[in-house]
Amino acid sequence: MTFTAPKGTFDLLPPDSEVVLAVREGIAAPLRTAGYGYVETPVFEETALFERGVGESTDVVSKEMYSFVTRGDDHVTLRPEGTAGVVRAAIQHRLYAGQLPVKLWYSGSFFRYERPQAGRYRHFSQVGAEALGVDDPALDAELITLAMRAYADLGLTRVRLLLNTLGCRDCRPVYRGALQEFLRGLDLDEDTRRRVEINPLRVLDDKRPQVQAQLTGAPVVGDYLDDACRQHYDAVRATLRGVGVEWEEAPRLVRGLDYYTRTTFEFQHDGLGAQSAVGGGGRYDGLSEDIGGPSMPGVGWALGVDRTVLALRAEGVEPTTQSGVRVFAVPLGGAAKERLTVVVDALRRRGIGADLAYGDRGLKGAMKAADRSGARWTVVAGDRDLAEGVVQLKDMTTAEQEPVALDDVVDHIEKRLQQ
Ligand code: HAM
Repeated sequence: MTFTAPKGTFDLLPPDSEVVLAVREGIAAPLRTAGYGYVETPVFEETALFERGVGESTDVVSKEMYSFVTRGDDHVTLRPEGTAGVVRAAIQHRLYAGQLPVKLWYSGSFFRYERPQAGRYRHFSQVGAEALGVDDPALDAELITLAMRAYADLGLTRVRLLLNTLGCRDCRPVYRGALQEFLRGLDLDEDTRRRVEINPLRVLDDKRPQVQAQLTGAPVVGDYLDDACRQHYDAVRATLRGVGVEWEEAPRLVRGLDYYTRTTFEFQHDGLGAQSAVGGGGRYDGLSEDIGGPSMPGVGWALGVDRTVLALRAEGVEPTTQSGVRVFAVPLGGAAKERLTVVVDALRRRGIGADLAYGDRGLKGAMKAADRSGARWTVVAGDRDLAEGVVQLKDMTTAEQEPVALDDVVDHIEKRLQQ
């Protein structure tokens, strides 16, 4: 009997895994320069946190959670998203009582029992950011700008920003009522009719053409905003304009999680097929109260690492990944191996990535391994070289080879790498 990775999951192996690391780092870098601190929360939380935070009528909670009862009778769920856990942690540790806003970022695994397809997995990876405790529209704009910067720095040119506002808990009910009124007049199946009563905004997100065709005249939330929400949205857009971020108004954009208020957005890419959202987020000013905390407005996003990798592939962009190994040592014989082990260790201690041909498989196999390693230099040494106190240093880009004194080789390589 053999085992394979569970359905909807995959193993990440070199060299592809390098791209994933580059994406994680590429998303995190702008956040770190903007004062976001790293946070880690557990991969599982009490099930009720997601039910109350994300919303029981959402697909994520009602259909997609990995929930189980532990041996100790605790009801827990593998996190389907990161915001509820981060806000829970902020409440638990009273971060709202300190310096505001609290700016946090995270990176990790998330789990949704979805129907797997390209770009949609049951175990996936996100980098996320949340800014808590302040309802300043400039913060919404800052986060959006940082995401767009991350995509651009990674080399993506085809990410589109879709922007909307969902109003607040005062004005949205009025819109919700108007939308329900409209939807009740349409020709919809039983399931969708039920959804109209429970979560009418989600109907706007129905992808089926026969539903979409009927939605052309649906009321849009923008027409129902109260003054405060309108001003908030105007300020977000003014700030984005100021920093030169372009967007498309998306009055029908609704997100799959219930906690959103006011600004909502999605980052889309056309190279992914059906799953076009590479990231998304928005403001969630009532979430803290929903899960038993004090008033603590918040805004944030999460970018899908796996989908960002697919977007890079679709654009033919290789993010600059530095394979760790710059120097590959090829010893021919036992004595040479001993000496080159010392050289490799010395290089590594100077921060120069180095590896050695293990397994004594001869020159040809070792040179193949050197090639595969991506190293710039190969250091080859046989017993005869060592008797003369030299090694052969080969530049893998030009194939030029020269003898270098064994005692100097580390200094020599360091100097050449700095040139
Ligand atoms: P979300 O839109 O559910 O938002 O997920 C964010 C991103 O995670 C998606 O745009 C997508 O790239 C990726 N993603 C989601 N599900 C999958 C999946 N099954 N397979 C692969 N990638 C996936 C959230 O999770 C919110 N917590 C974002 C947020 C933070 N809002 C405010 N703060």
